This record gives sequence, C-alpha cells and structure tokens, in this order.
Amino acid sequence: MFIVKKKIHGNDYFYLRESKRIGGKVKSIDLGYLGKTREEAEKKLKERLRKEPAQKIDIKKEILPTKISVEEMAVFCKKKGFIYQSGEIYGGFAGFWDFGHLGVELNNNLKSEWWKFHVSQRKDVVGIDGSIITHPQVWKASGHVDSFNDVFVVCKKCKKPGKVDRHELGKVKCECGGEYDEKTAKDFELMFKTKVGESGEAFLRPETAQLIFTNFKFVQENARMKLPFGIAQVGKAFRNEIAPRDFLFRSREFEQMELQYFVNPDKIDDCLYYDKIKNYKIKILTSESQEKEKAENILSLDEMFKKKIFKNKWHVYWLYKSYQWFLKLGLNEKRLRLREHKKDELSHYANSAIDIEYEFPFGWQEIFGSHDRGVYDLTQHEKFSKKDLKVFDEEIKKKILPQVIESSFGVGRALLVFMFDSYYDDKERRNIVLRLSPRLAPIKAAIFPIVKRPEFEKIAEEILKDLGEEWNVVYDKSGSIGRRYARNDEIGTPFCITIDEESLKRKDVTIRERDTTKQVRVKVSELRNVLRDLINKKLRFEDAGKPIK
Ligand code: GAP
Repeated sequence: MFIVKKKIHGNDYFYLRESKRIGGKVKSIDLGYLGKTREEAEKKLKERLRKEPAQKIDIKKEILPTKISVEEMAVFCKKKGFIYQSGEIYGGFAGFWDFGHLGVELNNNLKSEWWKFHVSQRKDVVGIDGSIITHPQVWKASGHVDSFNDVFVVCKKCKKPGKVDRHELGKVKCECGGEYDEKTAKDFELMFKTKVGESGEAFLRPETAQLIFTNFKFVQENARMKLPFGIAQVGKAFRNEIAPRDFLFRSREFEQMELQYFVNPDKIDDCLYYDKIKNYKIKILTSESQEKEKAENILSLDEMFKKKIFKNKWHVYWLYKSYQWFLKLGLNEKRLRLREHKKDELSHYANSAIDIEYEFPFGWQEIFGSHDRGVYDLTQHEKFSKKDLKVFDEEIKKKILPQVIESSFGVGRALLVFMFDSYYDDKERRNIVLRLSPRLAPIKAAIFPIVKRPEFEKIAEEILKDLGEEWNVVYDKSGSIGRRYARNDEIGTPFCITIDEESLKRKDVTIRERDTTKQVRVKVSELRNVLRDLINKKLRFEDAGKPIK
C-alpha cells in the first residue's frame, strides 16, 4: 500500500493505493481518500495503521543525496566508466568529453525517455534529425553570425582569459575573485568555423533549433500537421566556449533535446490544457526579485501568467511539461526552481525566457531553457531564403506565420543533474548507491549464479538471453554475492537477480531491490513481465513476488 497524488480539476487529492499482480497483470486499487495534502494523508495513514497493525504500509522517508563537488563527481564518473576526458592519454582536450560503457547507456536512456515523453506519446509532435553543418546563410538569417558572440576578457588578478555574457560585463568576477579588466574586452565568435570542400566556409551548428525552422514547411506538409503542432530534434551542438567549466556543465561539444511548438499567434492563449495545470505551484526567481536582490517565491503558474512572467499560455504549458519530465524521472523538486530572464539578458530571438535551474554544488544553474521566440526565426528565414514559410490555418482559412515556443534541454546537463541527485554514500552498506530511476539506469538487472556451478550458470545464461532482448542486462559471476551487490549499487543497477539451490527445484529466482535491499522470489517464467512492471513503476517491489524475510 502506498500514497498517491491525483490531480482533479487542478487540485491535489491524496489516496491510499494498492498494486497487485493478479493473473499475470498488475492491478491498482484505490483503498480510500486520505486528504488534500501529503502531511494530512500521512497523518490519516498513521491513524489507520494503528487500527490495522497487521498491515505493513510504506511511508517514504526522504533520503538526501550525499553532497560532493563537481570534481569528485568527475572522478567517480571516470572510475566507474561513465565519462572520460576526451583525448586524456594526450593530456585531455578542454570542453570535450567521451562517454564510457555506462555513460553511453545513461545518455541513450535520457534521450529515449525524452523522445517518448515529447514525441512518441503525443499526436501533435513529430521529430527530425538535421545535419550538423548546413548552409551558412542559415546562421546569417538566424542572427547567430551577428549576435552569437560573447565578450572575451582577462582577469586583472590572475591574468587568465575568461568569457562573460555581454550583460554580465562589469558585474561578474573571475573564479579567483579578481575583477575582469574591461579594457581587454573584445567580441568573441562562439560558432566553430570549418571549411567545406576547397574554399567554402561553414559553421558547426550552435543549436539544433535552426534545422527545425529551415525544414518546418516540409515537415508540416509531409507529416500533414495542423496548427498547433511541434517538431522535435535531438542532436549535437557546438560552441567555442572560452572557458569550458564544471565537467559536462559547460562544454564545447554537447547534445541538445529541443522542441519547437508552432502556434497561430492569434491563438497563443487558446491552450486547451491550461486550466488543468494553472494551479500548479513552482518556486521561481522572478526578474523583479533578481533586480531587488530578493529570494525566490512559490507561485502558481496562473499567478506567473498574470504577472506577465509568461507572455502566453502555450509557453506556460510547455514549461510545465518540461518540469514534469524531470520529476517523472525522479528528480527532487526541492533542488529545482524557475528563473525568469531579465530584459538585458534575453537572447536576440526571444520575447521572454524562463529557465529551469538546479542547485548544483557550484550554485543554482540553468539546466533547461524555454523561450517565446515569437515569429522571429521564420520571418528571418523567409527574408533570407525568399521562400514563403506561411502555413494554412484550416480553422480561419488563412495563411499565417506561426509563433514559436521553444523548449531546450542539454543532455549533458540533465545527465549531471541525475547523477548528483542519485549519489548516496551509504554508510551502513559501506558503498555508494546510485539511486537512478530504473528507466535511466545504464544496466537494468545483473544476473548472478550464487556460486559457479554449471546448473546455476545454465539458468543464469538463459535469463540473460531472455531479458537481453529488451534491456541492457549483465551477467556477473565473480566475487562474493556482497561484492557483486556493491558493484551494482555503485553504478545504479536497480535489480539483482540471483539463481540458487531453490531455483533448481522451484524454477524461481531472487530479485533484490537496490534502494531497499529487500528481496522477493519470482518464477523464472514471470521474470520479464515483472521486471518490465518494476522498471515502469507499475508494480511495487513488495508486490512483485514472495517476500524473503
Ligand atoms: N535553442 C536555444 C538554445 O540553444 P540555450 O539556453 O543557449 O538555448 C539551451 O541552450 C540548453 O542547452 C541549456 O539549457 C543547456 O542545457 C544546454 N547548453 C547550452 N550551452 C551549453 C554548453 N556550453 N555545454 C553544455 N550544455 C549547454
């Protein structure tokens, strides 16, 4: 039994729920209403427990991740095979990172979860995959050639070069605490240049967004999309950062997951989901608070809209969805906040911008950016290409140029956030437990024969083959069981499956859950279905099989 939150007409209600595997299927049954807040629900549940002492009910205690520095995280990621500095055997190459055997899985899982949530599970969004190098005119039209430049500066104290956003000039200091010498300030081109063929100069794309705009009309026609609709893309972007820093946080080559949502500007407030989400509250640092050096407020989305932090309701909706994506994958809301961009820091294409920030060991920093790009990009591409990019709005029987709401995620920053948020130094177990969501975990299950005996190994190999059809699973037969559990806890493997003497007689195995170390016995024939339900959180671990005391 466990507490669930339901949203009904925008309000939260808490219920007691039970999930059971009945005849091969998981069924969820609501056992009763508990209240309007989690505190009220937990209080009622405790009262109920007192009356029903025979029942075991889980009240989730919050366990906080262990705080480590970004340098310590980089060391951990290297040691375990997540991330290496690119070209390290030659001394490394600043701002470039290589993903190891676990990093590539985690990265792929992040991108696949993003794609499922933003594309596959929606009828109004389709995807593309554009090229990294495109026609140079694209970057002239988009404004990147003229405005995508930061300011190069040198620190008066340590004499190291640095880069600041134009609006930060004179306001921010160097890492050493010294002031930047404004006399050394000069423009710095953030796009990487390359040569195409013999003489043609081109750029590596600094954002994936422009490929969506240049293909917008083709996609709209061929996929027969009607406004409002979105186009998504996941792919590499390159920025020649002067001062790459904080591990994956600011690198020169990184990946973005971007969604551009196209809406008729006259219907920018006709968002059919708005009423369902408008009362949702989030911590936000408004531009007003930043100017007056005040702290964050907790505001409902509707309050933010009424305060004109968001200029339109579709922008509110997409920010909400992006925020929910992080929560769905287990991120703790306490370390998230929104930040409204101040007028002087808005990108050249944005009418308004709101970031999602995470509280890193090096402070609150952007992990996601959302922009109301207005009709800027499509207007520019119409002007430069001399092509008509307007689309026909069936409802009003008129051709219009749509307004764009952008949601932009960095894959590397998301990866870093999930690593920090899952890192627990478990003093009792005396090892790290990486509490990644099972959906993100690089390895979904590790399979162990309890000892190296051919009859156990045969079953283990059969299970490996079966589960391997769906997930990345591993077979581990070296070292004690305790050592094998510890090894897998450290890399975030959510489930360990052990084949023992009993398995030979009963055709079942033990599954051990990483976070609680609880164990249940499950029939081999049901294992794949049970694991799928556990990964997708459709089944509570206690209900997955016969508990082992
Ligand atoms: N298309 C809009 C755009 O690119 P942005 O705020 O410059 O907007 C969006 O970048 C996201 O891309 C950021 O929130 C961040 O997650 C990621 N990002 C940007 N620059 C990065 C860098 N140098 N290293 C790693 N990630 C970066």
